[in-house]
Amino acid sequence: MIRFESVSKIYPGGFQALKNVSFTIEKGEMIFVAGHSGAGKSTILKLVAGITKPTRGKVFVNQNDLGALSDNELGYLRQHIGIVFQDHKILFDRNVLENVLLPLRIIGYDRKNAERRARMAIEKVGLGGRENAEPQSLSGGEQQRLCVARAVVHQPSLLIADEPSANLDRAYALDIMELFKTFHEVGTTVIVAAHDETLMQNYGHRILRFQEGRFSA
Ligand SMILES: Nc1ncnc2c1ncn2[C@@H]1O[C@H](COP(=O)(O)OP(=O)(O)OP(=O)(O)O)[C@@H](O)[C@H]1O
Ligand SMILES: [Mg+2]
Repeated sequence: MIRFESVSKIYPGGFQALKNVSFTIEKGEMIFVAGHSGAGKSTILKLVAGITKPTRGKVFVNQNDLGALSDNELGYLRQHIGIVFQDHKILFDRNVLENVLLPLRIIGYDRKNAERRARMAIEKVGLGGRENAEPQSLSGGEQQRLCVARAVVHQPSLLIADEPSANLDRAYALDIMELFKTFHEVGTTVIVAAHDETLMQNYGHRILRFQEGRFSA
């Protein structure tokens, strides 16, 4: 489903974040991306989502070479992707419900259906009852769970989560992992980036370990 072919990424300014990286992720696989801060984890996820482009090499998602897609085609592909961003990207001028609704409205769900699904997703991450809360009134961990609800509300076939449990205590972090597992079990491809490998050990899934932009042992 996802293939990196000799991908290098050099950011403007000259820093090389990825060095000739190749790997494949199968459809329906749950996989972890691990490594120290600055290793290139977020860069990998942004390339998969087409948010940034490789400097060299190719990224394929569902047989599409992302570099060859138009903005419209990329937009369509993204409708099937759910993303938990490391920096959240919560809209602070809308309440919890409106934040979670938004992806569905963009896809074209009517208000009633969108609201029903959004409420279910909010319940699933343990924020039931907080639908009308302003995001700034949520704790760091609650904001993180809001991001997870927004990423899964449209039942994406590919779920990408960048440090989804960074601000959570262990019990909630494991809850989030369990939630991702339920998506994996119904066929969703799940990619999770995290520093904390102890979270990954219970799952027995493949781990892509990075060190300074390359695979490490
Ligand atoms: N937009 C950018 N412009 C310039 N350099 C960048 C940019 N984004 C990332 N980098 C650099 O690329 C390297 C890899 O960054 P990346 O965000 O992929 O690391 P990471 O593994 O996700 O780290 P963290 O665990 O801290 O989130 C870092 O050294 C970072 O400073
Ligand atoms: Mg990162």
